[in-house]
Amino acid sequence: MSAWSALICKSSFGRLTTGAAASALLCAIWLLCETAPLSPALAQSSTQSGPKGAAKPTPACVDCHAGAAHAYATAPMRHAMEVPGDDPALESHPNLTVQQGAYKYTVLTKDGKTSYSVTDGTDTLTLPVRWMFGQQSQTWVLEKDGFFYEGLVSYFAREQALATTPGDGHITPHNITEAMGRKLSPWEVLQCFNCHATNASTGTHVNFDKLRPGLDCERCHIGAVQHQIDAANDNFTTLPKALKKMDSQDTANFCGQCHRTWDTAVRNKWKGIPDVRFQPYRLENSKCFIGNDRRISCLACHDPHQHVNHDQAFYDAKCLACHAPAKSPAAVATAAIKSCPVAKANCASCHMPKTQLPGTHSMFTDHEIRIVRPGEEYPN
Ligand code: HEC
Ligand code: HEC
Ligand code: HEC
Ligand code: HEC
Ligand code: HEC
Ligand code: HEC
Ligand code: HEC
Repeated sequence: MSAWSALICKSSFGRLTTGAAASALLCAIWLLCETAPLSPALAQSSTQSGPKGAAKPTPACVDCHAGAAHAYATAPMRHAMEVPGDDPALESHPNLTVQQGAYKYTVLTKDGKTSYSVTDGTDTLTLPVRWMFGQQSQTWVLEKDGFFYEGLVSYFAREQALATTPGDGHITPHNITEAMGRKLSPWEVLQCFNCHATNASTGTHVNFDKLRPGLDCERCHIGAVQHQIDAANDNFTTLPKALKKMDSQDTANFCGQCHRTWDTAVRNKWKGIPDVRFQPYRLENSKCFIGNDRRISCLACHDPHQHVNHDQAFYDAKCLACHAPAKSPAAVATAAIKSCPVAKANCASCHMPKTQLPGTHSMFTDHEIRIVRPGEEYPN
């Protein structure tokens, strides 16, 4: 299994919480019903004409929900996958090379097209790059003779350079095809595209003709397209489900469709530092996590339509909503919950430590909120 990819839906049906049914349902919807026909980028522009058959142009999401739509246009989730000609990282780094053992890799971008090639000095294999995964760092999914591969080298934003794809460090290639990439099973291909694109699958097949890169509004707001058509005709009886009504357990399962749920991590026995990427799992392991208390929901700290807020002080109020200093009015309401004997601000900087993902160039924030003792082992 690569560090980027991992199974998810397959195993999220187990835990007997209120969230389990919701998560199973979401997964079922996600795997089976992503078939609503759409014009690309419907959400982004009001100049698009409406779906076929509509009498007048249908207004776009942005016409009625300007706040969410404008913020989301540049969010990493919107750009979780890119297609050629639409990739700022490659446009600004048109000639990337790296020597890895006996193999030399070159990723060339010109006139909106990118090629990935590997050579051992004798044989050379060159493939077009059609699917670019990741907004900051990126990995390319390549196709050769009807099979799909995850490129063995990826682009890392921090170094602005190529290096081994996370999770593929143990691979010793025996020929040029193995050096090019790690062969993906059909199930893995489906998973990749389902987490990084919209409208990606019909049943067990990837819909290469219909998928749209990145997560559109409808990827999370299931039913939004019907609502969009109806809203244009002043019909507001078909509103999509209000996601803000989810409690913290439901939200962890909802976001965990892709960020991985507690169930998924436990069932797959994911241990050690690599699981720091799975925020729902880490958060649920924390003593702070209370399934029906929205103050510890992903949505208490994150607006999914926006970039993550990197200002540590922003999170203080979120913690203090429960850990109010003694004698404050809020503390009366949360009498049983302790306050900090050490500091009054920047809570996350000590209790949610930044952690380097082994074998990669990426830092993650440990969502297992806790007292961090110097020299302690990473808690599983
Ligand atoms: C013609 C205007 C219009 C268009 C176009 C439109 N909406 Fe809405 N939408 C509304 C109105 C009005 C509401 C009800 C708002 C309320 O009750 O707070 C609503 C409600 C919603 C809600 C439920 C919010 C909640 O908390 O209950 C979501 C989610 C939503 N829209 C998403 C979308 C998405 C995604 C699109 C594009 C695919 C879209 N809308 C297109 C007008 C529109
Ligand atoms: C359909 C899959 C999917 C779902 C559902 C999803 N995410 Fe994501 N999310 C992603 C992917 C993929 C990325 C990585 C985007 C990138 O950098 O290329 C991401 C990135 C993020 C980031 C990092 C943004 C940044 O600025 O670096 C945050 C925060 C985030 N997601 C929060 C959430 C929350 C909260 C939810 C639930 C409300 C959620 N996500 C649901 C797939 C998903
Ligand atoms: C279960 C859903 C899921 C699957 C399957 C999945 N990803 Fe992701 N991917 C995510 C989420 C969520 C993130 C953001 C958090 C993180 O980096 O772990 C992400 C992050 C990434 C990033 C880093 C993005 C950045 O901006 O740094 C890359 C590259 C990536 N994925 C590529 C892939 C490839 C290639 C595959 C298939 C081989 C794949 N992913 C399969 C959900 C998924
Ligand atoms: C990654 C999943 C995700 C994507 C993609 C997404 N949303 Fe949302 N949206 C949510 C969640 C979760 C909430 C509930 C937010 C909350 O309670 O803070 C929400 C809330 C909303 C609301 C209700 C706002 C409110 O709180 O009253 C509207 C309207 C909306 N989204 C529109 C959009 C539009 C338009 C797009 C595309 C441009 C979009 N969303 C993309 C997850 C998503
Ligand atoms: C109590 C606040 C809090 C809650 C609740 C929370 N987060 Fe975070 N999250 C943070 C902080 C703090 C950061 C790091 C911000 C920074 O410094 O860049 C972060 C960062 C992230 C990132 C960026 C990658 C990383 O690890 O740095 C993702 C993705 C993310 N959170 C997803 C989630 C999801 C999904 C949930 C719900 C399961 C969630 N978060 C719940 C505080 C929170
Ligand atoms: C929903 C309420 C809630 C929120 C929000 C919350 N916590 Fe907690 N936290 C608790 C509860 C309940 C406990 C366990 C009982 C106690 O220690 O009082 C706890 C325990 C802790 C502990 C002690 C853990 C240990 O290992 O003994 C620390 C440290 C902590 N929280 C820090 C934070 C920080 C920092 C934030 C914000 C990033 C935060 N909490 C957000 C409810 C919350
Ligand atoms: C400089 C690092 C640092 C910062 C910043 C910080 N803490 Fe702490 N916190 C600690 C340490 C260390 C302990 C353990 C103290 C001990 O047990 O000796 C602790 C203990 C705690 C506890 C457990 C108290 C108990 O009696 O068991 C809670 C709850 C907590 N912090 C919450 C917070 C909150 C909320 C904030 C922000 C307002 C915060 N912390 C800011 C380092 C920090």
